[in-house]
Amino acid sequence: MILLCTLADLSAHSENGKALYREHCSSCHGLNGEGLGSNPPLKNSSWVTGDPQRLIRLVLNGYSGRIEVDGEIYRGNMPAWRTVLNDKEIASILSYLRSNWGGGPITPQEVATVRGKTKNEPTTGAISGCRGNRMGAMHSRSMGRGMRGGMGCGGCGQ
Ligand code: HEC
Repeated sequence: MILLCTLADLSAHSENGKALYREHCSSCHGLNGEGLGSNPPLKNSSWVTGDPQRLIRLVLNGYSGRIEVDGEIYRGNMPAWRTVLNDKEIASILSYLRSNWGGGPITPQEVATVRGKTKNEPTTGAISGCRGNRMGAMHSRSMGRGMRGGMGCGGCGQ
């Protein structure tokens, strides 16, 4: 009984990660993580499968400049997700990616820890143009009970 519940929970977690990935990340990284134009792939990326803290930090605060992925150098601008996605949403997306390409699941607690540790670091800014972000206030409210990150577009400074 307990085992069944846990399994159901886990698969819901990963399904949700897939939906969130498609909504927020696939426009740049491709539906299957294959990369698009100047945006690097998430497939075969040691950033995805490697150190969870390094991965969480990059997603929370964004990344701009030179980055090497699978032997290629990219110079783009990865938006910061800290004001857009809450701990649970980021954990679901990253667990989904790692379930495809390797690395263990990432928990909302790990995201919360890194969020706290890196809160004073500069970020690249949230994805520009909140209107293009289909995540409505209702969605973020229902997902982000009591979480600092669940502000949706309210956190976008432009
Ligand atoms: C507006 C386009 C854009 C969106 C949307 C976006 N990224 Fe990125 N991402 C980038 C770019 C560009 C880089 C490389 C940054 C650089 O060149 O300095 C990157 C780098 C990364 C990297 C590290 C390098 C790699 O390829 O493994 C990860 C991991 C990543 N993004 C995950 C995500 C996740 C998860 C989401 C959704 C929450 C997301 N990205 C949404 C553009 C985007």
